[in-house]
Amino acid sequence: MSINVSGLVDWQRGHIDRRIFWDPAIYEQELERVFARSWLFVAHESQIEEPGAFVTTYMAQDNVIVARASDRSIKVFLNSCPHRGNRVCFADSGQGRQFTCNYHGWAFGLDGALKRMPKMALYKATPGFRMEDWGLKRARVESYKGLVFATFDEEAPSLGDWLGDFRWYLDAVLDVEEGGTEFLPGGATRSVMNCNWKFPADNFVGDIYHALWTHLGGSEPTLGRHGGVIVENERSWQVSVNGHGWEFNDSFLGNAATMGDREMLRYMKSRQEAITARLGEFRAKMWGSVASANIFPNFSFLPGYFTFRTFQPKGPTKTEIHAWTLVPKNMPDDIKDRFRRGSMRTFSPSGLLEMDDGENWEHSTAANAGFVTRNQRLCYAMAPEGELDDDSLPGTVTLGQLSDANQRLFYKKWAEMMNAETWQDIPLEKPAAPAEAAE
Ligand code: FES
Ligand SMILES: [Fe+2]
Repeated sequence: MSINVSGLVDWQRGHIDRRIFWDPAIYEQELERVFARSWLFVAHESQIEEPGAFVTTYMAQDNVIVARASDRSIKVFLNSCPHRGNRVCFADSGQGRQFTCNYHGWAFGLDGALKRMPKMALYKATPGFRMEDWGLKRARVESYKGLVFATFDEEAPSLGDWLGDFRWYLDAVLDVEEGGTEFLPGGATRSVMNCNWKFPADNFVGDIYHALWTHLGGSEPTLGRHGGVIVENERSWQVSVNGHGWEFNDSFLGNAATMGDREMLRYMKSRQEAITARLGEFRAKMWGSVASANIFPNFSFLPGYFTFRTFQPKGPTKTEIHAWTLVPKNMPDDIKDRFRRGSMRTFSPSGLLEMDDGENWEHSTAANAGFVTRNQRLCYAMAPEGELDDDSLPGTVTLGQLSDANQRLFYKKWAEMMNAETWQDIPLEKPAAPAEAAE
C-alpha cells in the first residue's frame, strides 16, 4: 500500500510535514517512485573519454558502473553480479577490457553483457540457460552536452522531455563555448552527512535566503565584505521547470569560490563578451553569477563556483555527497587550478561553506523526528511565485525578490511523483521554442 503524500505537502501554501524528512516508509516509497523513475546524473563524458574507461557511482542506493564501450557508446549497468550478488567492480574509476567478479569469476563486457565464466559448459548443458539473460542489469542512458544521465525505468519519458526547457538555462554553464566542458581531475570528493537528501536538494534549488545568514560568519572574515556572498535582492531570479530550479543574481559576477581572486575575476569578465555573443546577454549574466541550482531530484550545482554534486540517499537520515568541479575545457590551466582550489576550499567536506550548510541540514533532520516536534509543519511560505509579464523566459519565473518559490515547486514535483502509479499521472511541462525575446 503506497502512502498518499497530498496531506503532507501543501505546496501552494508552503506547508510541509516534517515526516517526509525522516519516515522510513516515505523513504522506501521515494526509492521506488522518485529515484527509480527519474533520470539521474551518473557521470560527465570527460570522465570516460576512451573505450574501456569507467567510473562507479550511485543511482540512489544502487551502485552502478558507467563505462565507455568499444563502440564508444556509454553504458550504465548495476555493479552487482547476477550470480550471488557480489560487487563486480571495487574501483571508483579505471580503464579495462572487462569486469570479472571476485567470487566465482563470471566475466562481463564493457556493455555489461555476460561473456564467460569458469566451467561454462556446465551452464550451457542446463536446459533453457541463456548467457544473454544473465548480464549486469542495464539502464537507459542519455546525455545532455556532456552530462550523462541514466534511468532503469523503461516507461520514463526521454531525457529531453524530463529536462524540458531547463536545457535552455543549462546551456549557460554547458554551452558557453565551442569546446564544451569537463570535470577536473583531482577536483572531486565524496563525503557523508547525517541528513535527509531533500534538505541539500531544496537548499540548492532555491535557498539563497540562507546565504545571508548561515554563511555570513565564515565568509566575511575570510573573503571580505565584497569577496563573497553578496545578494542584491532586487536582481534575484528564480526559474523552475519540472521541479528543476535555478536561482541566480544577474548583477554579481564571480562567487565565493573565487575567494576574491583577481585573476579568476579578470578571466570571468574577459569571457563575458564572447558568451554574450553566443548565448545572449541574459544567459551570459547567469554564467558565473551568484547562483545555485538543482536538477530534480538530487543533482545540484553552483554556476559561479563550478561545483557539481549529487546527494545520494543512503537511508532516511543519511546522504552521500559526490562533488566535482566542472569548467569550460578551454579555460587556461592556471585558472582551472584556481577554480579547483576555490571549489575545494568552499564546497568540499572541509570547505568553509559546505561545513556551514551540513551542520544545519543534520540538525534539521535530527530535530524533525522528535515525537512532538514532528507535528508542527515547516514553513516554505516566503513570497508567491510569479510569472514575468512578457513571458519571455521558459518555465515559472520569479523576479525581484527572495522567495521559496523554487522550493515549493520542487516539493510539488516530489509529491506528484510520490503519488503517481504510472507516468501517465506525472505532469511534465513540455519544451517550448527557445525564448529569444529574453536576449
Ligand atoms: S557472485 Fe559473481 S561470480 Fe559468483
Ligand atoms: Fe549554503
